Amino acid sequence: MLRTHTCGDLRPSDLGKEVCLQGWVRFSRDHGGVAFIDLADRYGITQVVFDPEATKDVDVNALGAVIDTFSRESVVQVNGTVRNRVEGTEDERNPTGAIEVLIRSAKLLNKSAIPPLEIGDQKEGVLPGEDVRMKYRYLDLRRSEMIHAMEFRSRFLHLAGQYLESQKFIEIETPILGRSTPEGARDFIVPSRIHPGTFYALTQSPQLYKQMLMVASMDRYYQVARCFRDEDSRKDRQPEFTQLDMEMSFVDSKDIQDMIEGLVAFIWKGLYNEDLQIPFRRLPYPVAMEKYGSDKPDLRYGLELHTLTEVVKDAPYNIFQKIIANGGIITGINIKKDLAGDKIGRNEVDRYIAYVKKIGMGGLTWMRAKDGTLDSNIVKYFTPEIIENLKKEMEVEDGDLLFLLAGPRKATLEGAGTLRRKLAEDLDLIPKGVHDFFWLVDCPMFDVDPVTGKKDAFHHPFVLPDEKYEEGFCFDLCLDGNELGSGSQRIHDVEVQKEVFRQLGMSEEKMEEDFGFFLRALSYGAPPHGGIALGIDRFVTILLGKDTIRDVIAFPKNKVGTSLLDDSPAKVDDDKLDELQIMSMAIDDIEFDEEETEE
Ligand code: AMO
Repeated sequence: MLRTHTCGDLRPSDLGKEVCLQGWVRFSRDHGGVAFIDLADRYGITQVVFDPEATKDVDVNALGAVIDTFSRESVVQVNGTVRNRVEGTEDERNPTGAIEVLIRSAKLLNKSAIPPLEIGDQKEGVLPGEDVRMKYRYLDLRRSEMIHAMEFRSRFLHLAGQYLESQKFIEIETPILGRSTPEGARDFIVPSRIHPGTFYALTQSPQLYKQMLMVASMDRYYQVARCFRDEDSRKDRQPEFTQLDMEMSFVDSKDIQDMIEGLVAFIWKGLYNEDLQIPFRRLPYPVAMEKYGSDKPDLRYGLELHTLTEVVKDAPYNIFQKIIANGGIITGINIKKDLAGDKIGRNEVDRYIAYVKKIGMGGLTWMRAKDGTLDSNIVKYFTPEIIENLKKEMEVEDGDLLFLLAGPRKATLEGAGTLRRKLAEDLDLIPKGVHDFFWLVDCPMFDVDPVTGKKDAFHHPFVLPDEKYEEGFCFDLCLDGNELGSGSQRIHDVEVQKEVFRQLGMSEEKMEEDFGFFLRALSYGAPPHGGIALGIDRFVTILLGKDTIRDVIAFPKNKVGTSLLDDSPAKVDDDKLDELQIMSMAIDDIEFDEEETEE
């Protein structure tokens, strides 16, 4: 290699060495004929200096002319001598900041067009808009923060692979062009040229393939799997994302959870040289919903919900009575005085009322604890006994502020969970730099529509149900208010699988049509098995404290599913469509919805 060092290598121990560096001109300044250049690459930044006075036996005019061509972000090569920086100009924040390279020869390797964004380390708020970053992603990725994210992600995946290989997992790639797997999202569809009128689906996850690998006796499989789901982008969602996907034979739920805990602890040690505390806590789904209003609650702060339905059921307050009669729930949050509950004024309360309406709740009832009792426009309906019981249930003391929500059970709990999160953000209750893993367990097998009674799979239809088909042997790994992954024991008995399909309302014909191949596989000696998939983009985002998964993906789609880098999705030539026997005329008539999705 021509270069002797990277731009992050040189230290005072290299003083006097003749070196060759290659990199990008990040920044340059001229001080009375002496040019100082920050030369950057993935590994760091080294100051290189053109100092005519100090440069002997060199045609400094010719060298100066070359240096003059070194515009911002051009790629250059310099050869020179490592020397100390002038006393007082050392940069302690930069590992190479004690030295500089006195340039003796230089070469412009490739001139850069004027970059549309500043690549130096931005202070907060100076970053250009995300659209510019996406369009020129290769420049955005030159920023040290992005380089760090890519390195961290790579290290994470490498550690994961290392651990799984040590546990006898084998990495097997499964098709991307396949039949749709029912993860609940829309499919991206790919037309077949050879079989006009038929389509592949880009796989939403390797679910069925990995189960068939267990039938195939592979015993332990893993894959860093790309998954494709045609759903709207969010901060934590992309149409194309990556899972660490795994499956194991002859295991139960605990075996799978143990394996993941071992894996995460190994990765943790490798990344931070710290011992992660395992096993993780288990939180039953019904408790998660009732205490936190979420199936992936953030447990790093309190603000728990209190179900008050029993407490207020005899109050002659019409709204509550109606809700209770319809099987609804009344739930409340106590914002304790020491969380500044007494500082939340009337205007702010009104803002919370507007907020809960915005998220689809009917309204918010509020009360203040004062002089040993409760102050609110509805306490007139409460007997002293109800007030006492309510105070006991919510552990009320003077100065506390109580928010009550009432309505249909699931929606109200979820609304209260959203309000809980909003309060935690507003009151700054979420600790920084603290992570909290837990397993969500005891999930139902089906989500049942309260009105129509129609069943949907709570996770997916391959989860092993209990004998009554009520609970599923499934679990989610949660971290800091996010779902990182979900896994389960699977059905390995073909009759049980058919029964689940039946309960989901599938006819025998539909079953055969969509899943005949899979039912057949189960019938040839499928072992008891189970597995899990972790969302890598989410995991890395949380560990790096980023706001969106777009910041840990090299080339993500934007909020409306577009890649601004290469302008995809894009129209294709008519002859390509003809080949696929797809009519092109309709395409010109389609209007694209450019409206951005809410984060
Ligand atoms: P699930 O659909 O829950 O399970 O996905 C597993 C994990 O993948 C991540 N994830 C996503 N990340 C970014 N963008 C998306 N659009 C997206 N969708 C999901 C989440 C999620 O927890 N086959 C099952 C797993 C199994 O049972 O083994 C599955 O795919 O972190």
